[in-house]
Amino acid sequence: MVNMERKQFPLLYVHQHARGIVGWGAHKVAGQECLMYGIKHALLVTTGLQGTGIVDEVEGVLKQAGVAVTIFDGVTSNPKDYEVAAGTRMYLEAGCDGVVTVGGGSAHDAGKGIRIMLTNSGADTRLRDFAAVLEPHYTTRIPTYKPVNIPHVAINTTSGTGADCTAFAIINDEELVYKLILVVPGVAPNVGISEPAFMRLQPPQLVAWTGMDAFCHAIEPFIGRLNLPISHGTSLRAIKLLSENLRQGYANPKNDVALENLIWAQFIASMSYNMGGGMGMVHGLAHMVSVIKGLHHGYANALMVLPVERFNSIACPERFKEVGEAMGLDVRHLSPVQATDKTLEEIERLRNDVGIPAVSLSEFDFSEADIEHTVKWASNDLSMEANPRDMSPDQIRTILRSCM
Ligand SMILES: [Fe+2]
Repeated sequence: MVNMERKQFPLLYVHQHARGIVGWGAHKVAGQECLMYGIKHALLVTTGLQGTGIVDEVEGVLKQAGVAVTIFDGVTSNPKDYEVAAGTRMYLEAGCDGVVTVGGGSAHDAGKGIRIMLTNSGADTRLRDFAAVLEPHYTTRIPTYKPVNIPHVAINTTSGTGADCTAFAIINDEELVYKLILVVPGVAPNVGISEPAFMRLQPPQLVAWTGMDAFCHAIEPFIGRLNLPISHGTSLRAIKLLSENLRQGYANPKNDVALENLIWAQFIASMSYNMGGGMGMVHGLAHMVSVIKGLHHGYANALMVLPVERFNSIACPERFKEVGEAMGLDVRHLSPVQATDKTLEEIERLRNDVGIPAVSLSEFDFSEADIEHTVKWASNDLSMEANPRDMSPDQIRTILRSCM
């Protein structure tokens, strides 16, 4: 009898990407989008975006359309479970009927978490119960979930998230110190609005960090073993756009041509993983490094991309050759293995060029105990599923020690 419990490839779940509105002035339709989805009183979820005037601008646009606004600015980078609970309480107390998120991935994911709580037991909902892990496999639990039906308009202010259109939310579990990957049907926002006029206010460092995050969103599904055909096209185009524009956008965030290309790069890179290509162990390890040490998600990915992809490269050198070609390298005359070396060098060069040198994890006081904590949780991280190579606990230890 065939053993159906052990398959190299699980069933592929292909998600629809959210509606997107991209372009100069896009934020001005936020009010009418709210009304279309039945939002008359929005909980505006944000980190505050101090010094930019963006929150005031969006509040004005919503009010002009007749949408009442209650602001929840209690979200921080790497959003925490207790922040999501506080936002849920505010939503209920104020009598809101929908969520508007303004910011990067932290704001959007916090807004998704609030909507999951509202769909279940309000602020008493335990988000951990919705965390997608390998064992027990998350797809066995999805049929027991209530689909999220609270409307959500996401307004994007960074050129490298994708969370404005994706069906996943990543929230810190502050008690157990790991990242909850929340995959609940209906959790993708109704619409993601990407406004270049907001993104040109990013500091260069944020362009670099979020750009490297988008690069990882593109490369991980492309080399990954879920092998979703949709991702092959979107990933290569995103890698090309990032290779051709990230340096310029970092050097000058007000370079509008580079910025527009980065916006499309992050948009289609997020399609690669969201539509079913999945994420890999760059994200798997970066999740833990950022939850333990509070590092920015994109920065943590930039630190982990080379050690993890070096480890992965023997599983799929042909794919790394294609990545090199998309990055503009002439590797036609090289074998896949030789081309892989060039590709990894080129990734390192891009990372260095945007002001992210290799930094030892010891600089952040990452300890042996932190390594063991990472081994424990990363081994069951959903990101392992799409990684092109299985990673044993010992191999995770070795990779992390090589970063110390
Ligand atoms: Fe990411």
